[in-house]
Amino acid sequence: MSDAEQSTQQLKRKVLQLEEENAELRRQMEQVEKERIEYLQNVSHQLVAPLNAIKWHIENLTAPEGRIGLDRAKKVLRSIYSQATLVVHLAKNFNLMSNLEADHALSKLKEPLQEISLRQLLVNLADDFQPLAWDSNINIIVDQDHFDDGPAILAMRPLVSQVFSNIIENAVKYSKNDTKVMIQGKYLSERDCFMVSISNEGIPLNPEHNEKIFARGFRSEEATRKYPAGTGFGLYIARRIVDIHEGEITASTRNGWTVFEVILSVKGLKGKARTRVKKNYTTNRR
Ligand SMILES: Nc1ncnc2c1ncn2[C@@H]1O[C@H](COP(=O)(O)OP(=O)(O)O)[C@@H](O)[C@H]1O
Ligand SMILES: [Mg+2]
Repeated sequence: MSDAEQSTQQLKRKVLQLEEENAELRRQMEQVEKERIEYLQNVSHQLVAPLNAIKWHIENLTAPEGRIGLDRAKKVLRSIYSQATLVVHLAKNFNLMSNLEADHALSKLKEPLQEISLRQLLVNLADDFQPLAWDSNINIIVDQDHFDDGPAILAMRPLVSQVFSNIIENAVKYSKNDTKVMIQGKYLSERDCFMVSISNEGIPLNPEHNEKIFARGFRSEEATRKYPAGTGFGLYIARRIVDIHEGEITASTRNGWTVFEVILSVKGLKGKARTRVKKNYTTNRR
């Protein structure tokens, strides 16, 4: 074979290889596009359900035939509030999801670090979710005894708030009727960390799922049966946020209670991450 023929052969092989690589890239792009469309469908589906419920409740309140009593009106307004709470937290999750997907490293570090009183934050969240919990006669109790044993923590407030709201929302959704959701705090002085535990009694958490539940999109069969509307994003987002804060989040079962524990450092982020936040903080304030 002449030199010219040999290089033609080589070129043909190269073209073939490039064509295969090109086809593979196209397949991957189609897959990403398909997932994106499914994700958007999921987003709109999840938002439509509570918004429709709100509309339906308002129709009830304003129906021309017969007036409804004050007690009934209060109940309907409470339901509107619970559904609105769900929409707000859902929308925040979707916003965080797009940020996390866009930047897998340290996405939301543009938020400034702030001093947060965990007691106050959790009392506010408990108040926010209580109307939803009342629908199933569930009481959310914040045991305030030990929260003030330690100092305020330094963290990104909107993100940390979303961690706890996702756990509390689950605790309410997956609890049995007529039970309690218990929220407790403890300062771990030897580690200079704060630990928050949120416990509820409801659908059992299979010990094999203690880790799986933090994966993107995972929902157990029991959870889907009890509460068909769901995304499986809540705990994934919670873990990503806790990771960004260099903390820990775990799930376990103790004496029939499902217990979620979150440990956050009082001093906030260490090393590089901390410098990055500080830099952004200065820019933000200007
Ligand atoms: N308090 C809880 N009790 C029992 N199972 C839970 C609890 N919280 C979370 N889970 C399990 O973890 C899964 C993932 O939760 P999450 O990421 O918030 O998604 P979603 O609530 O949309 O299903 C749930 O579907 C459920 O199987
Ligand atoms: Mg959830």
